[in-house]
Amino acid sequence: MIKTIEYIDGVVRMIDQTRLPAEKEFVDCRTIEEVGHAIKSMVIRGAPAIGVAAAMGVSLGADSIEASAFEGFYQELEEKCDRLGQSRPTAVNLAWAIKRMKNVAHNNKSLSVIELKSRLKEEALTILTEDIATNEAMGQHGQTLVEDGNVILTHCNAGALATAGFGTALGVVRASVNAGKNIRVLANETRPFLQGARLTTWELKEDGIPVKLITDNMCGFFMNKQEIDLVVVGADRIAANGDVANKIGTYMVAVLAKENNIPFYVAAPVSTLDLSLASGKEIPIEERSSEEVMTINNKRIAPEGVEAAHPAFDITPNHLVTAIITENGIARAPFTESLKALANQK
Ligand code: MRU
Repeated sequence: MIKTIEYIDGVVRMIDQTRLPAEKEFVDCRTIEEVGHAIKSMVIRGAPAIGVAAAMGVSLGADSIEASAFEGFYQELEEKCDRLGQSRPTAVNLAWAIKRMKNVAHNNKSLSVIELKSRLKEEALTILTEDIATNEAMGQHGQTLVEDGNVILTHCNAGALATAGFGTALGVVRASVNAGKNIRVLANETRPFLQGARLTTWELKEDGIPVKLITDNMCGFFMNKQEIDLVVVGADRIAANGDVANKIGTYMVAVLAKENNIPFYVAAPVSTLDLSLASGKEIPIEERSSEEVMTINNKRIAPEGVEAAHPAFDITPNHLVTAIITENGIARAPFTESLKALANQK
């Protein structure tokens, strides 16, 4: 099994996703600031993985605090959490994990600071274990939508590398394969960061699941030829009405899927739901460096002086979404009701 992230002896170890597939190297973080930097620089990425990393970062941050009374400890912890929370804006799992860790501290005021530190470490490890179990449950629900022989299109990387393990969209693929179905994956390369080309193909190849790489602008061609049976993608944040923020290009895929009568599924844990937002219009979209658009493998592809835009995510409106697969079940329109019901389910 691919171990995207581990937390052992005060070290958070992550696979360096900026170097895959050429090299499988690890980055060790010993401070909350190093974890924040790893998230910002995409050493670790993907909404659930960012959440797990953040929880471990908060634990490292707590360990470094010298205050021995709760008030001083909690104040410093909050400051560190606020800075970590700014590392990436779109994936709600970051804020979700930080809030969960802060709540653990806040609700255990009676413990000594030493005990609190160990309680926070335990919570971070629980978040990791829960994430894998969540993905497996999501996969079980999702695989009921997949038939033997299906070709699944996916965008970006919503796999083991984007989570603590198993994956969300690729969790549906893995669960389908585990159920004995013959599945093939088409992976959009996902310009500009190439998560599809570099990461999705790498992890499916590791597991021996058939995958073919296509450039983003080819998926309409294959849909129109009826060579894609369904689309499954992940999500970074889902608003109460079912609008989905996911990797830039997802909206384009959803429009093409609708045009070609192909089901468009989103696989995401309940922690990715942000029911405080009425619609996708309120979801903050990260703008990343234009250098990531201007260069491929550090080689410049556009003339000096040319400007490039780089919104890292887009919003797929709910009317293009066939269903949202969560660990608690499958939500369909009207999403305002179905998502609320699944979110409140234990
Ligand atoms: O910029 P990234 O690589 O963090 O974006 C990742 C995605 O958009 C994924 O599809 C999403 O986080 C779901 S991951 C299970």
